[in-house]
Amino acid sequence: MSVGQVAFTAPSGDAALLRRMSTIRLEGLGRRFGAAVAVDDVWLDVADGEFLVLLGPSGCGKSTLLRMIAGLLEPSAGRILLDGADITALPPQHRNLAMVFQSYALYPHLSVSRNIGFPLRARRRSKPEITAKVGEVAALLGLTDLLDRKPRQLSGGQRQRVALGRALVRDPGAFLMDEPLSNLDAALRATTRAELVELHRRLNATVVYVTHDQVEAMTMASRIVLLNEGRVEQAGPPGEVYDAPATVFAARFLGSPAMNLVDAAVTRDGRAHGPGIDLPLGLPDEAAFPERPVTLGVRPERLSIVPEDGAGLRGVVTAVENLGGEEVAHCLVGSSQVAVRGPRPLGARPGDRIGLTAAPAHLHLFDPVSGRRLTWQPAATTAPKE
Ligand SMILES: Nc1ncnc2c1ncn2[C@@H]1O[C@H](COP(=O)(O)OP(=O)(O)OP(=O)(O)O)[C@@H](O)[C@H]1O
Ligand SMILES: [Mg+2]
Repeated sequence: MSVGQVAFTAPSGDAALLRRMSTIRLEGLGRRFGAAVAVDDVWLDVADGEFLVLLGPSGCGKSTLLRMIAGLLEPSAGRILLDGADITALPPQHRNLAMVFQSYALYPHLSVSRNIGFPLRARRRSKPEITAKVGEVAALLGLTDLLDRKPRQLSGGQRQRVALGRALVRDPGAFLMDEPLSNLDAALRATTRAELVELHRRLNATVVYVTHDQVEAMTMASRIVLLNEGRVEQAGPPGEVYDAPATVFAARFLGSPAMNLVDAAVTRDGRAHGPGIDLPLGLPDEAAFPERPVTLGVRPERLSIVPEDGAGLRGVVTAVENLGGEEVAHCLVGSSQVAVRGPRPLGARPGDRIGLTAAPAHLHLFDPVSGRRLTWQPAATTAPKE
């Protein structure tokens, strides 16, 4: 155990808790509300020490999934295993899990200090240990000056930090967090995000973290599980989900502005064609490539502006957004909107006719019907594989 971990660990029981493995396995987990399916046949292994982020749009089933793991909601189907033991029917207090939710009722009559220390008093820890631990957690969360206040004397964000502190103070085997930063202002959200990552690094605890914020997911996750209508759309490290989205849904969900997606046709010469589009795809064995319609994807930051002649994409700039250090130019290519993002100034103005190029490695092809990513086997195979 590193020095960092010792510094954050109580000398007695909690150290043992921390060393205990905490793996979570979901086997075909599902939940219906009447006829509506909120979570559908989710299979997932959360490794010990993993920072797993459940990401997806509003209503996709993130909270429902987390609440089932916490024991607050009964699954309609499937099993939940904690460290290999079936806990599907176990009440929440018997699961070694700490929960932090977006809105979390604090004890209104207790001070911040006593709210944070509550789980330790319930475990009959010594007073000096509780004081030290509460002080440490409060300092981490910027609550030191507020320890004597009551919850009603705090802002929403401060209350949420107290709730976070109450979970942190326990050193549980795993943390379940449902949008814990969403009530914080932008600056505090960014620092707390970094602190949570650092905390995770020191404790090496298993975290299942729910958010619909792609920046949180990209910066915090060791693995992202993207949910769509209750099902797992894609699971993988942030870089992988970003660089190789498995579906059009995943491609649209990560990235700002989102990945450009245009209708095109792949032709026998191994190029993508469409109105204003003539791009070499850099595919193996181009001559034998079967013709087919595709959805062509390219991220705004992977496009460069070039003279119109001979460029892969040709269009007209419709608007330019100034983001400070960067600019986004919105263009009309054929009848599709295509965004380009790069350092300011991009050198494009509304009304300009421009060309755009991207390296073949940064082009993504999807099946226009299923939305699934198309990949090609090495040169030996000529047919697209879905
Ligand atoms: N108690 C309930 N009764 C009926 N339907 C519910 C209940 N709880 C959730 N749902 C429905 O289940 C689906 C998933 O809800 P859930 O709260 O898990 O979404 P979420 O991904 O957490 O969304 P958000 O990002 O808005 O918090 C939604 O369609 C929601 O309306
Ligand atoms: Mg939710």
